[in-house]
Amino acid sequence: MKRKTRVTSLRKELQRERKDGKTIGFAPTMGALHKGHISLINESNKRSDVTVASIFINPAQFNDPGDLKRYPRALKSDLSLLSSSGTHIVFTPSVNEVYPNEDKINFYTFPLNGLDAVMEGKYRPGHFSGMVRVVKRLLDIVEPDQLYMGQKDFQQFTIIQHMIEKLQLPVQLVVCPIVREENGLAMSSRNALLSQAARNKAGYIYHTLCEVKKSLPNQNPSELSAMALKMLNSAEFSPEYFEIVDGYTLQEIQHFDEHKYVVACTAVRVENVRLIDNVILKDERNL
Ligand code: PAJ
Repeated sequence: MKRKTRVTSLRKELQRERKDGKTIGFAPTMGALHKGHISLINESNKRSDVTVASIFINPAQFNDPGDLKRYPRALKSDLSLLSSSGTHIVFTPSVNEVYPNEDKINFYTFPLNGLDAVMEGKYRPGHFSGMVRVVKRLLDIVEPDQLYMGQKDFQQFTIIQHMIEKLQLPVQLVVCPIVREENGLAMSSRNALLSQAARNKAGYIYHTLCEVKKSLPNQNPSELSAMALKMLNSAEFSPEYFEIVDGYTLQEIQHFDEHKYVVACTAVRVENVRLIDNVILKDERNL
């Protein structure tokens, strides 16, 4: 595995690969890697000729400076995990490399059609504009054929898909399923901040999502969301939201029958660590 820290050097390397007719797959991350991240690498190794991963804790997407400060960092073990899973190139840039001449760069702004106003957007103001900014910048640097992202961050990949369409970017988004711990807890870098007891208990978030899916034919979405919030509260978690939304618009729905693509999304605080998860309730898209 080659490690690159500079944009110019990474671009040169990728130019060489492209000249040989190779396709480039790209999985951006913020490090503290786990099996969820590695599933993106595995998918890229299957579909793309060259797999590029990035590790960059993007300050622009942290609305809470405390969250940025305590975000887990594990570069050494990340590098060995990436290398052993067959990553070809890892990009580990500095903040200056990603955001040079900050004041002179015109960042793309384009309407997000309200996709950033709901759920995570309500609780993390500014988060999505910072996320979009870094993903656009990384796509400009890497120019991948395929971009690999996880379903775990449902709103994030929906916004990136929207950006790709809006700006007509020549990249295909591949969304990979959520990888979970044995007890159902969605793998997340933030899980490392939980005590073992909380980590065990946090499997209840997925259990709640599954209960909602089971009750789906009998109850309406608002009753189901209320039921889920009650379950989470009674487990002494602090849910921020539990919403049943249209998978395209991310707006809360009233009637299941009127939508082809429906997902239940939640954010829950456990020991003050923010955990997000989702389950697709209905997917009748013509793909
Ligand atoms: P990070 O949280 O490190 O996640 C990197 C990628 O891994 C995202 O696409 C995320 O959805 C995916 N991922 C995380 N946990 C997963 C799991 N349990 N199963 C499957 N995929 C999982 O998301 C970010 O970083 C950043 O916002 C980033 C896109 C890198 C921009 O800074």
